[in-house]
Amino acid sequence: MRQESRLVKTEVTESGMTNSTITLTAFARDTLEGLSSKNKYLLPKYFYDDAGSKIFSKIMKMPEYYLTDCEIELFEKQKEEITDNLIKGNKRLDIIEPGSGDGLKTEYILKSLHKRNIDFRFIPVDISSHANNVLADKIRKSIPGISIEPMTGDYFSVMNKLERSSNTSRVILFLGSSIGNFSEAELDRFLSGLNEISTPGDRALIGFDLMKSPEIILPAYDDPYGLTREFNINHLRRINRELGADFDPDFFEHRQEYNTDTGEMKSYLVSRTDHKVTFREPPAEISFLKGERIFMELSRKFSILTINEMASSHGFRVMNNFTDSRNYFVDSLWIRE
Ligand code: AVI
Repeated sequence: MRQESRLVKTEVTESGMTNSTITLTAFARDTLEGLSSKNKYLLPKYFYDDAGSKIFSKIMKMPEYYLTDCEIELFEKQKEEITDNLIKGNKRLDIIEPGSGDGLKTEYILKSLHKRNIDFRFIPVDISSHANNVLADKIRKSIPGISIEPMTGDYFSVMNKLERSSNTSRVILFLGSSIGNFSEAELDRFLSGLNEISTPGDRALIGFDLMKSPEIILPAYDDPYGLTREFNINHLRRINRELGADFDPDFFEHRQEYNTDTGEMKSYLVSRTDHKVTFREPPAEISFLKGERIFMELSRKFSILTINEMASSHGFRVMNNFTDSRNYFVDSLWIRE
């Protein structure tokens, strides 16, 4: 059958989508580019509008979504040891956190540093100034007297601008399992960026979900309450809301695949029928065949071996791996060599 995806009045180019009369937002451009490609995809960064963020908060509370519980458990039990390793050999610290979210796990570290009277600044970095200010207010309330300097913008362009004083070491926190949502190219770009903004002795604490039985992983992404399906469907609803599209969620089935060899956990929405979706802003039409899928998200799982290799190929050495009691999740502490 012939693929009939067609954009009306818009043109897809190497550098994005251009059109003489319509200026596309990044969301519109990325969405239409993804849905017009041979293998349709959407970018996971657009999951998190207000509705999507609320659904994700609920996902994190599901017993099946073991990742959050594991990481909280390891922070609760090992926060002092983690803190020891962050301060070892350092006088003053800049704790930098790209995409801090609700800061729940970060607070364990910040409280522990504060209690020990360590001289440090906390620098949350986020593209949303609102999210950043909400987090900063929350942390100022729970740790009175803490020094916080939120920075708004794209992670590395902001972090590159950060001034470094001679007696201050950097600790970059990238908690949760956000690193698992990166493609291979994004992962390499991120780790190369970490290398560029750090100097020997700086540290990075990165959360990785570990490879394990599909019987444990799959229910975390295919839950009995339908929340993960709703999280994915909300992406389509967002497209409807913001780009005037007419996606019918009932035409899509939520499907997951876990590859035990590569650790790739992939989520898709699969079209139940041949149909077309139209867009108002900008005018466009996308055709779906029965069984055709939209690749929604990669949630990659890692092995300790791969983590060690990634650290060393980007100029770091693993100092310590902090795991939970079930060995499901690791916060890996890297030092820049
Ligand atoms: C944000 N990220 C680490 C989550 C994950 O596990 O990949 C997003 C998520 N998607 C479905 N459930 C949770």
